Amino acid sequence: MDIACGSGANALYLAERGLHVDAWDISDVVVSHLENRHPRLYPRALDITAAAIENSRYDLILTCHYLDPSLAKAIVRATHPGGLIIYQTFTAGKKADIGPRNPDFLLKPGQLESFVSGCRVLRFEDGTDIVDQGNPMAGRAYIIAQKNIDQ
Ligand SMILES: C[S@@+](CC[C@H](N)C(=O)[O-])C[C@H]1O[C@@H](n2cnc3c(N)ncnc32)[C@H](O)[C@@H]1O
Repeated sequence: MDIACGSGANALYLAERGLHVDAWDISDVVVSHLENRHPRLYPRALDITAAAIENSRYDLILTCHYLDPSLAKAIVRATHPGGLIIYQTFTAGKKADIGPRNPDFLLKPGQLESFVSGCRVLRFEDGTDIVDQGNPMAGRAYIIAQKNIDQ
C-alpha cells in the first residue's frame, strides 16, 4: 500500500518488482494518471482515513511526503505480522529550505518512532541537518519498522 501516492513513483517501483500495490490518493487527477500504468498497480481516489485502511491487510505500507498522525495506529493494524511499515517525510527542524512550511505537515522529534510503537525499528535516518538539496535525505527523516510476528 502506498498512502497518498501522488504521481506514484514509489508505487510503480514496487509494482515493477513484483508486489501488488494499492496506490491511494485524494486527487482524482493523480490517480487517473496511474490507471492502466501497471497490471499490479491498483490506484484509487479517496480521502484516506483510519477507517478506510484498517480492515485491509498488507505486507508493506509506505507513507512518503505525507503526514497524518491519525492514521498511525490503523497503519500498524493493517500491516501483516512480520510486515514492513515505512515513513519518510520532512522534519520540523529541517535546515534545508525544502518541503512544506506548515508545522502541521512536519515531523516532530520522536514522532516517527511513536508511529511504529511496538514494532521493531530496522532502520532510522534523520537528515534534518542536511542542507544540500541534491541529497535525497535533505530535511527529511525516514523509518523502516517491522511489525512483530505476535503483534
Ligand atoms: C507531497 S505529495 C506526496 C506524494 C508521494 N507520496 C511522494 O512522495 O512523491 C502529498 C500527496 O498527498 C495527497 N493527499 C493529501 N491529503 C490526502 C488525503 N486526505 N487522502 C489521501 N491523499 C491525500 C495529495 O493529493 C498529494 O498527492
